[in-house]
Amino acid sequence: MANNERAVSDGHFLDGTRYGAAKVKKFSTSRYGIIGSAFLDSTLIQDLKNLVPGKRVLDIGCGAGNWCVTAAQYGAKSVDGFDIQPEMVELAKQATSHLDMVHIQVGDAADIPFDGDSFDVVLSFFVTCNLPPNGFTKHFQELHRVLVPGGKALLLIPTDWSHSKLYTKIEADPSTVKREIAQILSTVPKYPTTSQVTETFRNTDDILVTCFAVDDKGEIFNVTNTSQLSHGQPIWRKTEVMTFPNFFYSEQSTIDQFVTNGLHIEKTDNNFTEERRITYNKSNPAIPLSIDYVKHPTALVYHVSKPL
Ligand SMILES: C[S@@+](CC[C@H](N)C(=O)[O-])C[C@H]1O[C@@H](n2cnc3c(N)ncnc32)[C@H](O)[C@@H]1O
Repeated sequence: MANNERAVSDGHFLDGTRYGAAKVKKFSTSRYGIIGSAFLDSTLIQDLKNLVPGKRVLDIGCGAGNWCVTAAQYGAKSVDGFDIQPEMVELAKQATSHLDMVHIQVGDAADIPFDGDSFDVVLSFFVTCNLPPNGFTKHFQELHRVLVPGGKALLLIPTDWSHSKLYTKIEADPSTVKREIAQILSTVPKYPTTSQVTETFRNTDDILVTCFAVDDKGEIFNVTNTSQLSHGQPIWRKTEVMTFPNFFYSEQSTIDQFVTNGLHIEKTDNNFTEERRITYNKSNPAIPLSIDYVKHPTALVYHVSKPL
């Protein structure tokens, strides 16, 4: 499949999403934004500390290479990272150039450029939501193929809440924000491009997380229930950092893929605890996070293994 084959918009392609050079740069510095700093980064670092020492590690869709660096720092024997976007690969190469055991290349999660049974640990952080339906299915088959029997994988995947709920700043009134969104959406052209969606929502500071999609008449809408979306539908996920082109997959679809491919779910971690929210809010009074993040976590970490 041609790397730049266009699927739906200037962000959704037939082999995955593309952010464009400016957003790639922004992602590399802001990473997962406030949900990373408040809830995710500390556990993922601890998970890698436990999992990677002495292991051959693969980072699927490695982005700017941050987790490749962490894996190397915590004693991985080797780290291979790949990503579909050449701009991401360039940043990942720069970030890891001082680490001899790390190798970065361009590659597709649907056709992983390594032999079977090659890795003890595989990471896939916020990658499945960037893959079109064919790539989504193949990602899990490929992940299973490259893991050694007994190998472990760690996956970070958006929850159904992150597709259906509006998360706002604490001081904002959600019904006012909803009205503002409806007013803004009425100005968006039919069948909008990613650039148009991003541009329209550039100055909407009260929105922290929400999801948009296009209906069968080409009209953009704010998703309020995952039943409004179909498997693999192109969507846009707006966060406080930026608006990402994504594809929709329900949590159940992910679980189905683990089961179909014989990957055993050892545990799922919900890192969105009240304790972390309080700690974060004490040190970040400028944008305190509401209880919504704890009641409705936006991402789950899956620990899976390939049976012996
Ligand atoms: C949200 S970013 C996450 C990056 C990295 N895993 C991290 O956690 O920092 C999603 C990444 O998936 C990559 N991606 C999209 N489609 C892909 C594909 N078919 N194969 C490999 N990577 C892909 C994007 O280029 C992007 O870097």
